[in-house]
Amino acid sequence: MKTRITELFGIKHPIIQGGMHYVGFAEMAAAVSNAGGLGIITGLTQKTAADLANEIARCKDMTDKPFGVNLTFLPVVDQPDYPGMVKAIIEGGVKVVETAGNNPQSVLPFLKDAGIKVIHKCTAVRHALKAQAIGCDAVSVDGFECGGHPGEDDIPNFILLPRAADELDIPFVASGGMADGRSLVAALALGADGINMGTRFIATKEAPVHENVKQALLAASELDTRLIMRPFRNTERVLTNAAVEQLLEKERTLGKDITFEDIAPEVAGVYPRILAEGEMDAGAWSCGMVAGLIHDIPTCQELIDRIMAQANDIIHGRLLKLAD
Ligand SMILES: Cc1cc2nc3c(=O)[nH]c(=O)nc-3n(C[C@H](O)[C@H](O)[C@H](O)COP(=O)(O)O)c2cc1C
Repeated sequence: MKTRITELFGIKHPIIQGGMHYVGFAEMAAAVSNAGGLGIITGLTQKTAADLANEIARCKDMTDKPFGVNLTFLPVVDQPDYPGMVKAIIEGGVKVVETAGNNPQSVLPFLKDAGIKVIHKCTAVRHALKAQAIGCDAVSVDGFECGGHPGEDDIPNFILLPRAADELDIPFVASGGMADGRSLVAALALGADGINMGTRFIATKEAPVHENVKQALLAASELDTRLIMRPFRNTERVLTNAAVEQLLEKERTLGKDITFEDIAPEVAGVYPRILAEGEMDAGAWSCGMVAGLIHDIPTCQELIDRIMAQANDIIHGRLLKLAD
């Protein structure tokens, strides 16, 4: 299947693995890229620019296919070493960068000068248009269903994607709630050029996370995510657990007086404990509603091949018959 996204990134299938904190290591990105999609290393999971350079080198040892690096711009006081990370990306010969979290203007000229393609992830059409205006090559449009940060507009993909298609000239992928061939065909029908998946890729054999995390996804249904940090306008969709319910209780009782310190025990520094150590109640971790569609732990190759086969069956079978 050729789309504007497969052409832009030089990949076989229009399927991207979005950057994921403490999931997007070299093993994850290489497995997705080797399976014909676009794997992405999460820049900020690496503590320093030198660590990121090393992770990029490790990924190159595992795949000769294109892969990307995610740079997330966070609302934090102590800014990560973005210039150092950009240098590591350019010197590492990375061909694609996925930016997210905020306007990527500060890094864009350096990436573009190095010939790197930039896909910006956004949750609103106005942000997608801004990304297009400043020179991003593509956008990833993240609907309200998504795992992680869905923004504050709460627009699900059935509305957001056709709105994006109506407004954008650059190619875009549908992100949030994507799991299988049905998702891909639906995304294409709504105007997207491919899909971006986060949560679904965590439940794969190669995902470098604790087995407890994969089992938690198998056990979860579409009813099991919660939205936290709404009072901070930094909403995150996470899998519910004891810590998340405790956090939500604090948000309810403290109301407008709540501060970040109040919820720090449930959110600060918990990712390695959960994703690497498998301490499933240690705190809040991003997870999409798509958990309800995850019932097995295939390899990335099996997952991507299955998505493409199912999409082809739907297009050439059911849809073609309906069109007669
Ligand atoms: C565990 C986890 C961690 C994530 N971390 C990041 C991140 O660090 N930066 C980012 O841009 N997106 C992050 N995301 C969002 C994904 O890249 C992707 O946009 C999202 O998962 C898509 O929704 P889905 O989970 O329904 O597929 C994360 C998602 C998950 C599930």
